Amino acid sequence: MQVSSIAEQGAAAPAEPEEAPQGDLTVRTIAMPADTNANGDIFGGWVLSQMDQAGGIAGVERARGRVVTVALDGMTFLRPVSVGDVLCVYTRVSHVGRTSMKIEVEAWARRFRTQNRERVTRAIFTFVAIDDEGRPRPIPT
Ligand SMILES: CC(C)(COP(=O)(O)OP(=O)(O)OC[C@H]1O[C@@H](n2cnc3c(N)ncnc32)[C@H](O)[C@@H]1OP(=O)(O)O)[C@@H](O)C(=O)NCCC(=O)NCCS
Repeated sequence: MQVSSIAEQGAAAPAEPEEAPQGDLTVRTIAMPADTNANGDIFGGWVLSQMDQAGGIAGVERARGRVVTVALDGMTFLRPVSVGDVLCVYTRVSHVGRTSMKIEVEAWARRFRTQNRERVTRAIFTFVAIDDEGRPRPIPT
């Protein structure tokens, strides 16, 4: 008996569950020509900056006060961002320590003039709650 795969038979493979952003939509902004590099793509640093700001917003809300970025895990840019794309940044507080917290940050691009969105990158940021003197302070429960 000859065995052939689903793909060989031309039948549709079972659909993968649609990938969706995780967390709260915290920052939404449009990629502008001023943010491009010499190739005409958007600077990775601009995307990172939007993610840092989104994480900061989530961190301030959770820590009920001032926070600073102390670290972020290794980050890979999966797809480029182009002028006109809407960058949507989602955040989720995944761990709260004594004075620090880990915030998962995902950046998605809604492509220019479409409803198509793609994940651009994600990273886990660590923020530390600080007092007026810049010293770590306990995060309220
Ligand atoms: C963040 C900062 C206040 C921490 O000061 P510190 O003297 O290292 O404080 P501590 O050693 O008590 O650590 C405080 C918390 O940060 C965590 N932490 C410190 N360095 C870390 C690192 N590299 N990665 C992950 N967490 C870290 C500690 O684990 C601790 O967490 P916990 O209280 O939940 O257990 C200080 O390092 C700082 O001001 N850094 C500059 C931040 C900044 O300017 N960011 C913007 C850069 S442009």
